[in-house]
Amino acid sequence: MVRFGIIGTGRISDWVLKGAGQDPRIKITAVCSRTAEAAEAFIQRNPMAAGAKVYTSVEDMAADPEVDAIYIGTPNETHCAYAITGLKAGKHVLCEKPLAINAAEGRMMADAARESGCLLMEAMVSTLNPNFAAIASRLDEIAPVRQYSSFFCQYSSKYEALKRGEVATAFMPGTAGALRDVGVYTLYPLIALFGRPSSIRSEIRTVQTDLGVSDVQGTAYLGFKGMDATVTWSKTYDSFQPTEIAGEKGNLILDEIHIARKAEMVPHATPTSGLGPKPGRTTLSEGLPFNEYYYEFKEFADLIEQGKSESQRNSLQTSLAVLEVIDEMLNEL
Ligand SMILES: NC(=O)c1ccc[n+]([C@@H]2O[C@H](COP(=O)([O-])OP(=O)(O)OC[C@H]3O[C@@H](n4cnc5c(N)ncnc54)[C@H](OP(=O)(O)O)[C@@H]3O)[C@@H](O)[C@H]2O)c1
Repeated sequence: MVRFGIIGTGRISDWVLKGAGQDPRIKITAVCSRTAEAAEAFIQRNPMAAGAKVYTSVEDMAADPEVDAIYIGTPNETHCAYAITGLKAGKHVLCEKPLAINAAEGRMMADAARESGCLLMEAMVSTLNPNFAAIASRLDEIAPVRQYSSFFCQYSSKYEALKRGEVATAFMPGTAGALRDVGVYTLYPLIALFGRPSSIRSEIRTVQTDLGVSDVQGTAYLGFKGMDATVTWSKTYDSFQPTEIAGEKGNLILDEIHIARKAEMVPHATPTSGLGPKPGRTTLSEGLPFNEYYYEFKEFADLIEQGKSESQRNSLQTSLAVLEVIDEMLNEL
């Protein structure tokens, strides 16, 4: 059993509990909020948290012997301090994406995890999704891989407010913005599969606010040995483009990179005229038997049961490489 203390009572904490509740090993024993009222309201509306203790201090919750692990569902700029507080108190930490606002903070968190021997994992849903695993296991069949392209473009209602000069957390200059908020979903699976890029070029669109420059959309071109990648992210428009990995012997396709519901493979076929038959698509896996957030709690609980302090699927090495790439792209602004 893993007894969790939840930090932050916003919508993401409500969402993840739907998945956490599908793993019988997960219990919620504490909720920490900036106000006791918000923590109590969260417990009230989430039956899974019934009976949880209320905290308004992360330090106090981290000292609770009835808490084994901490879930961080608060804004990016709080992740580092909250994670280190938990790790130093001997708690495992499941931290929302991105792991931190930059690689320097991410490295401090990774160091604290190594020193404590506790598990620290980024709650990146994409790479724990079984449909992602389905394509990852078939890469050899399309090898050599030549191209990866991925999109996460979702018009944000908060962009409307941004245009009026109101800066929501998700657009906060220096700590959030479209790349950290949604672009990370296109980068994390890429780096998990293929490692660090050898070159990065990006085109990022921004909005000037009273608090600084906020990035709202972008495209990056990343070079790897023998292959290249393009990733596109946006909070200013929607896109329904799938994510595709193209190899010399075929293609692997996910319908969406954030929460893939379908994985397909298209073997390379003999070229035909434009009107000839198209190569057949094979469905590798379809649907999600569990809530999309179940998989991060399952991975986390599996690792604790196995006595492991790091996930191979959502490794700290990948989290840090992603943050380094994000830093490099945003440094250009
Ligand atoms: N995995 C996903 O699908 C997904 C989706 C959305 C967001 N996220 C991630 O989840 C995190 C939170 O994002 P969000 O959009 O939900 O943020 P948010 O609504 O601004 O904040 C979430 C909660 O954090 C607490 N909080 C707010 N400001 C705080 C501050 N300055 N210091 C400490 N606590 C604060 C609040 O809870 P209390 O009032 O209880 O303190 C708030 O309800 C981000 O890292 C984001 O990238 C993940």
